[in-house]
Amino acid sequence: MIVLKKENLLRFNKNKIRNKKIIVRVDYNVEIKDGKIEEYYRIEKSLQTINFLIKNKAEKIILITHLGRPKNKEKVYSTKNLIPYLRKIIKDVAYFNWQPDKEINVKNKVILLENIRYFKEEEENNESFSESLAKLGDIFINEAFSVSHRKHSSVYGITKFLPTYFGFNFEEEIKNLNKVFEYIKKRKRVGVVISGIKIETKIDLINKFLNKAEIIILGGGIANTFLKAKGFEIGKSIYDEEYLDKVKKIYSNKILIPFDFITQNGYRFLGEIKKDDVILDIGNESLKIFLDELKKMDLVVWNGPLGKIEDKKYIKGSLNFAKEIIKMGNKKIIGGGDTLKIFEKIRVKKLKNVFFSTGGGAMLYYLAHENLPIFK
Ligand code: 3PG
Repeated sequence: MIVLKKENLLRFNKNKIRNKKIIVRVDYNVEIKDGKIEEYYRIEKSLQTINFLIKNKAEKIILITHLGRPKNKEKVYSTKNLIPYLRKIIKDVAYFNWQPDKEINVKNKVILLENIRYFKEEEENNESFSESLAKLGDIFINEAFSVSHRKHSSVYGITKFLPTYFGFNFEEEIKNLNKVFEYIKKRKRVGVVISGIKIETKIDLINKFLNKAEIIILGGGIANTFLKAKGFEIGKSIYDEEYLDKVKKIYSNKILIPFDFITQNGYRFLGEIKKDDVILDIGNESLKIFLDELKKMDLVVWNGPLGKIEDKKYIKGSLNFAKEIIKMGNKKIIGGGDTLKIFEKIRVKKLKNVFFSTGGGAMLYYLAHENLPIFK
């Protein structure tokens, strides 16, 4: 478990900021559809750090982010697309098309560099690239918890060249995710809900919590893989062929899997699924049982929607689950971009007892390993 020390937290080091150029790695990797930003949560969560730097008289604030996974500098992934929105919430912000060894020659207080993944050196964690990024500032702030499971130049390599501090949101993420380990240590009941398409990114978490959580509820393609491994007919539903043997070995009675579903051909109980059916959403009966079990927990961790939420017809299961879960009195930790989209639909962002993590992969990584690659 990572415990961040005062000397590494921005909050306790405001005396270091005055008249300095501060590089802030943020994660503005948000979905943009038809030129419109679909989710603002990550951007909003970086504001406390940016405002703190402005208030404490930083000379310049240089924001670095990636956007999507560009292959060929595609325009849809340009950070220019973020500027109209950023102008509404940050005074005096401008875009800058930075290239290695190029100085920043714009006067604005806050500068957003072009998508850092336009440079292949970023993901390679290239040392001279990291160094030329570092030359842009005097201090580096990591405010990108959600990409701190990647040892990339702008998250990891750069820290070799500059004094590094962690921003407000990074601190909040670690503090809240650590609650999961603290609850387990105190032998409190922890229930984990893991869903989504790919088992690959979540199998470590399932393994880790097999002996620690009270129950592990699975959904989506992950649940289908377990069902298939157990010999059930799942029709043409999505599953992971290469994990069939692995999941057979880890199956335990702590793992709860849905037993009724919505398919494109209607409602089905497990056992009634036909060869051409595709499971697209969780059924009400499974939902009821899962919610009853989760009510008994002291803490619930949820990552991944329970159905194909991008299709309006199949979002109902996940929506109902979200609405019920936030009514429960226990503590909840909820993360993953798709999972947060469900809460945007029911217009919930801040609630007592609920922590919404900005991390998807990073949250899963941290919970599974109690550490992050940037600390190794
Ligand atoms: C995320 O959306 O989880 C982070 O921004 C990391 O993105 P990546 O999976 O493309 O590295």
